[in-house]
Amino acid sequence: MRHIMVMNAKGGCGKSTLATNIASYFADAGYGVALADYDPQRSSIDWLERRPSNRPAIAGLEAYKDGLRHAPRGADILVIDAPARSHGKELTDLVRHAETIVVPVLPSTIDMQASDRFIKELKAVGKIDRKEAKIGVVANRVREYTLIFEELDEYLTSARVPYIAALREAQNYIRAYTRGLGIFELPEYLAWPDWEQWEPLTRWLRSVRSQP
Ligand SMILES: Nc1ncnc2c1ncn2[C@@H]1O[C@H](COP(=O)(O)OP(=O)(O)OP(=O)(O)O)[C@@H](O)[C@H]1O
Ligand SMILES: [Mg+2]
Repeated sequence: MRHIMVMNAKGGCGKSTLATNIASYFADAGYGVALADYDPQRSSIDWLERRPSNRPAIAGLEAYKDGLRHAPRGADILVIDAPARSHGKELTDLVRHAETIVVPVLPSTIDMQASDRFIKELKAVGKIDRKEAKIGVVANRVREYTLIFEELDEYLTSARVPYIAALREAQNYIRAYTRGLGIFELPEYLAWPDWEQWEPLTRWLRSVRSQP
């Protein structure tokens, strides 16, 4: 089973949004998918409870209560939604469960500063330093042609971590979450710009570049 974790110590940067969308992307592609929520806020579990029964099923794990013990044996991919404020030993323990780590970062000075510290801490974790887990960063809630997005883009380009994709700020993400869907499960005429922006992220996740 492959483990893809979405994490950033900074709150509100899009961890649950990315985790639910990655899970539904792989479920739609025919993989057996489980979604583990390490956050007692349960955003990913709440999303799963909203998921219509006619969509490819995703197993939910309340990992904040009992870890990954109940992970279904048959699952191909386990997507893990990590909680905010993970540092130190908690961070190292979480990283132990992942081979691929996706780090969303918002275009805001506060978020970029906090994420810079987080990325440095993450890169110092032994498993990542030894390249037994791969990190990729994703700019999230981006508004093109804004100064702050230019700053984020420059920062991520120079941060010496793979900069995988930039996702725009869009109501589609809120719409999809509310309906228990992923962005790929919205109608094409609404979501095609988001599908295009996700392409480099899904390509990276499918490639060996995101795996140790
Ligand atoms: N690309 C986007 N466009 C529009 N809204 C977004 C986007 N990404 C996330 N959001 C919204 O931003 C808010 C925070 O996102 P989300 O809950 O995914 O972040 P989080 O990192 O999981 O937060 P927390 O640290 O509280 O767990 C939510 O209201 C979500 O719907
Ligand atoms: Mg969350």
